[in-house]
Amino acid sequence: MPGNSFGNIFRITTWGESHGEALGVVIDGCPAGVKISIEDIQIELDRRRPGQNKFTTQRKEPDKVQILSGIFDGKTTGTPISMLVKNSDAISKSYENFKDIYRPGHADYSYDAKYGIRDYRGGGRSSNRETIGRVAAGAIAKKILKSMKIKTVGFVSQIGNIFCENINLNYIEKNPLRIADKSKLAEMEALIDKVRREGDSIGGAIEVRSIGVPPGLGSPVFEKLDARLAAAIMSIGGVRGFEIGLGFSVASMKGSEVNDVMQEKIKNKVKFRSNNAGGILGGISNGNDIILRFALKPTSSISQEQQSIDKNGKKKSLRVKGRHDPCLCPRAVPIAEAMMNLVLLDCILENKLSNIKKITT
Ligand SMILES: Cc1cc2nc3c(=O)[nH]c(=O)nc-3n(C[C@H](O)[C@H](O)[C@H](O)COP(=O)(O)O)c2cc1C
Repeated sequence: MPGNSFGNIFRITTWGESHGEALGVVIDGCPAGVKISIEDIQIELDRRRPGQNKFTTQRKEPDKVQILSGIFDGKTTGTPISMLVKNSDAISKSYENFKDIYRPGHADYSYDAKYGIRDYRGGGRSSNRETIGRVAAGAIAKKILKSMKIKTVGFVSQIGNIFCENINLNYIEKNPLRIADKSKLAEMEALIDKVRREGDSIGGAIEVRSIGVPPGLGSPVFEKLDARLAAAIMSIGGVRGFEIGLGFSVASMKGSEVNDVMQEKIKNKVKFRSNNAGGILGGISNGNDIILRFALKPTSSISQEQQSIDKNGKKKSLRVKGRHDPCLCPRAVPIAEAMMNLVLLDCILENKLSNIKKITT
């Protein structure tokens, strides 16, 4: 079954493995005339890149993007856009010991069960390096959305049992963990350092907000905006939970507490007194900010001794040494933003087909 493409109109296909020659993306359906520079794309890839600081994997990849097609004279041409990033610091021999052993928490067994063959080097296709293509494509979506005054911002909202409380969106890119509460930085850094010294890893959560989204995005019933966002976010490796607006906390609340009261209508746009729904009603955006949250599991690769089995079912013990993110959260922020931007842009393009007036004018 194919599963490497995403989106209905602005459609991306990512390709490549962690230790292969290169990774990349092909985008079909990007409108012509979008002004885009290589820097617009590189900025986003630099935010995703490994080796940014001591809280990310020490794999040294410059992740310099090459544009192979679809952009000419600084503008998209409407033809397929192809972008490529070379792998330059893959140390495949670190993975030789695990080529027949199923690492706990990884996709090793399930890939084998499905395909009977897998590129074991660096997790192959299941590696987070696959998301390079998503982030590159997301940078183009971001540029188009910016021209429509739509902005998506993500931040790490929780690491272990420590939560961001006083949210300051201006602080996110000023700290290595991409958290939004300065008062929690020292505590969170100390926690990550501690688990790393113990040969362990730690989980966390991310919040993503899209500001300036017009009402009317998303389609009933299987293309609901929240369903599409869930699929987009859950497709990122390591994600274990997803919520919109108040999310799971609605389970213990009353209708009178959860309903967003509508106050007034100005120029076809309704103003709500609150945003408990996270900007989506009936699978369609309601003009409020879209707010989603998701939980990331602790990194599976840990240097503590773990028990597993090999492909013949023989018991094995292993330590997954090498270069890994001790906490997945900081680098997942630009990936989640990219996925959100890809969904929003796709919905906007689809909306052009939602009414005959939009087609004929
Ligand atoms: C930004 C980011 C970085 C990641 N880095 C690692 C890593 O260094 N080591 C690791 O074991 N898993 C890492 N992962 C998680 C794996 O990609 C993921 O656990 C694996 O593909 C299995 O998929 P699943 O956890 O969704 O079942 C990372 C995920 C993200 C989003």
